[in-house]
Amino acid sequence: MPDQIWWKRGIVYQIYPRSFQDTNGDGIGDLEGIRRRLDYLAWLGVEAIWISPFYPSPMADFGYDVCDYRGVDPMFGTMEDFERLVEDAHARDLKVILDFVPNHTSEEHPWFRQSRQSRDNDRRDWYIWRDPAPNGGPPNNWISNFGGSAWQWDEATGQYYYHAFLKEQPDLNWRNREVREAMYDAMRFWLDRGVDGFRVDVIWHLIKDAEFRGNPPNPSFQPSQAEINRFLQVHSADQPEVHEVIAEMRSVLQEYPERVLIGEIYLPLERLVAYYGEDLKGAHLPFNFQLLQASWRAEEIARLIVEYEDKLPDGGWPNWVLGNHDQKRIAARVGLEQARLAGMLLLTLRGTPTMYYGDEIGLGEVQIPPEAVQDPWEKNEPGLGVGRDPARTPMQWEDGANAGFTAGKPWLPLAADNGDCNVACLRDDKNSILSLYHQLIHFRQRHPALSVGSFELSGAEGNVLAFERRHGDERFRIVLNFSKENRSCAIPRGSKARIVLSTALDRTGEELDGSVELRPNEGILATLERD
Ligand code: GLC
Ligand code: CA
Repeated sequence: MPDQIWWKRGIVYQIYPRSFQDTNGDGIGDLEGIRRRLDYLAWLGVEAIWISPFYPSPMADFGYDVCDYRGVDPMFGTMEDFERLVEDAHARDLKVILDFVPNHTSEEHPWFRQSRQSRDNDRRDWYIWRDPAPNGGPPNNWISNFGGSAWQWDEATGQYYYHAFLKEQPDLNWRNREVREAMYDAMRFWLDRGVDGFRVDVIWHLIKDAEFRGNPPNPSFQPSQAEINRFLQVHSADQPEVHEVIAEMRSVLQEYPERVLIGEIYLPLERLVAYYGEDLKGAHLPFNFQLLQASWRAEEIARLIVEYEDKLPDGGWPNWVLGNHDQKRIAARVGLEQARLAGMLLLTLRGTPTMYYGDEIGLGEVQIPPEAVQDPWEKNEPGLGVGRDPARTPMQWEDGANAGFTAGKPWLPLAADNGDCNVACLRDDKNSILSLYHQLIHFRQRHPALSVGSFELSGAEGNVLAFERRHGDERFRIVLNFSKENRSCAIPRGSKARIVLSTALDRTGEELDGSVELRPNEGILATLERD
């Protein structure tokens, strides 16, 4: 394997800790649960786990509202549990990436409690306080990502504070030097405990316009959309000064060897690539979410891959994301058959893949009855389909009560078919989606052409995508049939071609002579040798 740093060559696996494995019967996953499942993750073959927040929190936004950046919420366990988890993960060569939430704290964080005490409190300037607009009302038209004005009136001190998300999540003022130092120290706290990097929550939000100018209206807004789309977010996020902050975070990581900085960024491509930073001193991996939003057609996917490859800065390492805790699951977006194809795409593209727990067993959309809704966004803006609970349901491990997730009552319902759709069953089925993921991951890791090799588009027509990956003498061709019909696709002549994997897992070894016949929804990975 060529000498490449772990976060370039390996796969990142996201764990939503509430939903992975419960060990004390309260129906909510915990750190000890993750530890007990490490053998599974090592078997699967991923390189790193990214764990969504487990810090002390009132859980208004399920942990993305932090009230202590240096602790573990008792709901998830103790600091000893965390240390044991890191130790056991490292013993299996698994890296541990934490979710860092610097844009906002919980309203219950001691900093905010102090900040709201009086206008001359030492911590007043740690948050974003503004007077009402000249004619009264909120200081400007900025909207919360979860609906409603982003400004909350504070009676006691007669000012508004800004919250890009819930009112229980006041935004920190990242123009304040003390805030920055406090947060960098929090990062060091975890780095000193051996964590291998951070996924930084809403990193493009950290700095807002210095003059708090109003956002312009969005001409293509539809009333069926979440309210945040009413305006274009030109002044409330993605400000040039954010790159200086990210460079500082990066230098904190540089104090330690081989740590990774991943940024959560929902922006159009040309804005996104700026987050690699000047001289690549920004995020190592600004998350590339294009597959989450793309219309699922070969020609469209080809276009966005080529555009992404083209816009990457020199030396910038690509990455691809298929799902996360904020998005509809891939199997729900494209169906179970295409979910297998999507897995093959994710694991054969050039760049670090990020997988979302449960996608490897084809977990689909779990219907949440109205009375069981948990997500605060869904509660704020019901009926628009913004709810994130369906993508956060418990991992399904075995055929038994609650699929082995909990001995108690799960915080969200499991999929109805959990008796079949679970790790134990699918592991024994050599044609299952889990077996496909397992083989793809291990194949990718054994073959530098797939993990770190070059990429070249071979073609995209008739809803079939074909591309090549190469490294040294190794050459692979990937052909993916996005359609629900049979398709025939040419394979270069003058090279011996053999299938090494099909999404159906039943064609390994088949020799190809000038073309490949694909079944509906089928993808194949073939090795090409010069003869
Ligand atoms: C990020 C998280 C999301 C959270 C929001 C506010 O987008 O992924 O789950 O609600 O930030 O912290
Ligand atoms: Ca628990």
